[in-house]
Amino acid sequence: MKSTLPLILAAALFAGGTTLSAATDDALVERGRYLVHDVAMCIDCHSPRGEKGAFLEGKHLTGAALDFAATVPMPWAPYAPNLAGLENFTAAEAVKFFMTGERPSGMPTLPPMPAYRMKREDAEAVTAYLKSLKAAK
Ligand code: HEC
Repeated sequence: MKSTLPLILAAALFAGGTTLSAATDDALVERGRYLVHDVAMCIDCHSPRGEKGAFLEGKHLTGAALDFAATVPMPWAPYAPNLAGLENFTAAEAVKFFMTGERPSGMPTLPPMPAYRMKREDAEAVTAYLKSLKAAK
């Protein structure tokens, strides 16, 4: 009896540990979805819209040409690229990008993409959400 107790404890801990991390991943992705759709409004630039300006169903974050431009001469990127699957960035590169505005190449991002200064936990949530999306074709 004495000798099985540590085993049972270890098994319980292991099972508990796995469920906990699955639940944590879901919570992280859900928080990322909230930040991307409702707080930082990434969807405003990165999602294509139909003729009447409404988002195209099922096309969220697959990239869009911007329908506005700078009124003074400045560096400017006229297209907000696809973010679904975040294939051009490893998770670590993406977290750094959202915390500093610096691309993996060391180049800053061009306006109007904001150089976000997210806290690490927010950058990780945004990254987890974007990585969870199916890559756009
Ligand atoms: C005001 C419009 C706008 C908003 C809001 C915006 N972006 Fe962007 N984003 C852009 C543009 C334009 C580019 C292209 C910039 C460049 O070429 O340097 C870009 C580039 C990026 C890139 C680089 C993609 C690549 O493959 O090179 C990532 C990643 C990204 N944005 C993520 C986000 C996320 C996440 C948010 C919200 C937290 C966000 N963006 C909000 C306009 C925007």
